Amino acid sequence: STVEYGLEAPFSVEYHESIGSTNARARELATEGASNMAVLADEQTGGRGRLERAWSAPSGGVWVSVVTRPEITPAQAPLYTLAASVAMARSIREAGVDARIKWPNDVVIPVGEDGDYQKLAGILTEMEGETDRVEWIIVGMGINANIDAESLPEGATTIRDEAGDVDRRLFVQRVLEEFDAYRNDLEAVVPAWRELALTLGQRVRIERAAGDIVGEAVDVTSSGALVIETEEGEKTVSAGDCEHLRP
Ligand code: BTN
Repeated sequence: STVEYGLEAPFSVEYHESIGSTNARARELATEGASNMAVLADEQTGGRGRLERAWSAPSGGVWVSVVTRPEITPAQAPLYTLAASVAMARSIREAGVDARIKWPNDVVIPVGEDGDYQKLAGILTEMEGETDRVEWIIVGMGINANIDAESLPEGATTIRDEAGDVDRRLFVQRVLEEFDAYRNDLEAVVPAWRELALTLGQRVRIERAAGDIVGEAVDVTSSGALVIETEEGEKTVSAGDCEHLRP
């Protein structure tokens, strides 16, 4: 069911107690022409992650998908996703958790000094458009908020486990405000991302169909691509799964 959520957000919010996937619902709205809308759910029964993975989304988490129709090119779209990871990480840090970002857009907490981490939040971006113009972008954000980590897959942690429960209404409002601010100031995204990055300075492996890239992550470009120092020189990757290797 859709009910009023009473949120003062920069997006109009459609709230569901339970839904299959907020991204799937956002896609319906996007194809109907919606913009500046957020779909929020208490629970998802068919949450989706990156790379066709399932995403565990029980009641107590923050599961929200934002539909926008930005005036950007598809090449700038990764910045939108980075903006969301910065928004989530900053909001989670306000809740007292040492949230950092693992390239490109996982929000994690570091465990030890070796680049190990546990995951707190993730993003699934979907996009439609031509080569020169984006028609719509859906940024789906999933944050393990008021959930017991032991009920989630291995490698996950939650705000509850790290710092105690948050007021979810205020928390979603903060995330949406932060996302709105950064998507309207895309030049501020990469500098903010760098400050929170866990990946920079790490030895990483990026898995790609064309062959893995292994080396030290040294920077991100102005469009959010990762710069890696490899034995064959510097390489830049704009997408892929990033594994932190032991030094
Ligand atoms: C990932 O790290 O693999 C991305 C996870 C994205 C999960 C969120 S929860 C809200 C939105 N709806 C979905 O079905 N997925 C995203």
